Amino acid sequence: MVNSLQKACAAKATQLALLSALALPHAASAAQDAVHPKAALAAGTAAPGKDIERGRYLVRIGGCNDCHTAGYAMSAGQVPEKEWLTGDQLGWRGPWGTTYPSNLRLTMNAMGENDWIKLARTMKTRPPMPWFTLRDMHKDDLRAIYRFIRHLGPAGKPAPAFVPPDRVAEGPAIQFPMPPR
Ligand code: HEC
Repeated sequence: MVNSLQKACAAKATQLALLSALALPHAASAAQDAVHPKAALAAGTAAPGKDIERGRYLVRIGGCNDCHTAGYAMSAGQVPEKEWLTGDQLGWRGPWGTTYPSNLRLTMNAMGENDWIKLARTMKTRPPMPWFTLRDMHKDDLRAIYRFIRHLGPAGKPAPAFVPPDRVAEGPAIQFPMPPR
């Protein structure tokens, strides 16, 4: 039931979600071109902050800011880095209820790196979060994302709580159409 709902919703995915999905294959091929961090470490060539640089790159092209940073997509990315990933008050409303992109600065600050890897590998959220792209990401890329977000430090407040489908959210929300029957 939930699965077929999610599939139907995915079929109606916004251009936003589509764009981030399209961006990811490039990330993957860039990842293959880049020197593997562990290999660099072994060779003694890993520059300090390299993971942070890579995490910044992955967050930019992986689409996380499109939803988790208020105003990012609408301003073509013109949001200062210190405000990145602090979550959004704008809800996404559909048959699953109303969800809010969480404040990842607070999320990362509250957990250790290995807990993050475990969460990224196993979590299944409600739409429109593309949890499956995190699940399929290389572990070193997940670590780089974690280190970059930790490097930014905690900021902002928690996003509004999830509102179940039988209730109407108080603030603004993007309304998804009902999935086809
Ligand atoms: C299309 C919009 C969208 C994109 C793109 C997106 N997210 Fe999310 N994300 C959400 C929403 C909405 C939720 C809340 C889902 C829920 O309440 O079930 C969420 C939840 C999460 C959560 C679980 C809540 C928490 O903070 O523990 C994590 C972790 C997360 N996103 C990380 C990421 C990362 C990393 C990226 C980039 C690779 C990303 N997201 C891209 C919309 C998005």
